[in-house]
Amino acid sequence: MEQPVAEPIIYIDGNFEPLSVARISPLDQGFLLGDGIFDVVSAWDSKIFMLDAHLDRFFDSMRAARLETRLSREQWVDAIVETTRRNKLSDASIRFILTRGVPDGVVADPRHIQPTEMIWAAPYIFLADEEKRSTGIRIMISSMRGFAPDTLDPRFKCLDRLSSQLIRLEALEAGYDDAVWLDGHGYVAEAAASNIFVVKNDEIFTPQTGILRGITRATVLELAERGGIPHRESQLTAFDLYSADEVFTCSTAGGPLPVREVSGRAIAATGPITERISELYWQMRAEGEYSTPI
Ligand SMILES: Cc1ncc(COP(=O)(O)O)c(C=O)c1O
Repeated sequence: MEQPVAEPIIYIDGNFEPLSVARISPLDQGFLLGDGIFDVVSAWDSKIFMLDAHLDRFFDSMRAARLETRLSREQWVDAIVETTRRNKLSDASIRFILTRGVPDGVVADPRHIQPTEMIWAAPYIFLADEEKRSTGIRIMISSMRGFAPDTLDPRFKCLDRLSSQLIRLEALEAGYDDAVWLDGHGYVAEAAASNIFVVKNDEIFTPQTGILRGITRATVLELAERGGIPHRESQLTAFDLYSADEVFTCSTAGGPLPVREVSGRAIAATGPITERISELYWQMRAEGEYSTPI
């Protein structure tokens, strides 16, 4: 594709507007209350990866959050593709957002509101720089605990990300790249914006509960299945991280990412299984499986 446009084009409520013109209301409940949901999908080489799975998750969050959209699923697909096209991006991170919108009075009844629909396509975002993608990142176990399923289930991909911001800040200020939550019972959950995997004795383990069901996580499990690598969803504790042969995180922002240290304990810098999964992941993307053309 050509060079990205000088000024990003944002989709808002049916219109495509330059960033300097695009506006949401100061009364939007997404802004005032974090009352909304979102998802992030990525495009590589003009192919959007796993859009269907991301939309399934988006629509599940929408139903669980009692939000409504004016757009059908097909219209979301068209708007996502069109926004990316108009921004002339072939490698992109595309965020689509639905908020409860603008109330019709000062004391807002959340049932009487017009939703806000927004799409923002940015150049592809990697969670870590090139060096860290090959040598691994350093993560710490956060002092905060993840949400229990009977509070704000982590499967809501909701706009309220204060807790992720707080664990990221905690990690960055302690000199780490990222942090991992344990759940209320002390089991490993996930990182601020990624899922986590442990490799032990040539087998891959990943937590099953207390997490956002990452699309990349599901892809890694599918690739492990196809590649004949034993894998299991399992309860893990800090002990499993400390004694792992390999640890990696994964997300839409860059796929699998090796971890070389957990809370001061060295882990083998990128090991053979992390490398194999990463290779299979990028091969799957290059071959255009599960892809929607821009
Ligand atoms: C808390 C959390 N866990 C996991 C993920 C990874 O999900 P995905 O692979 O769908 O990007 C994200 C992505 O932003 C996240 O915010």
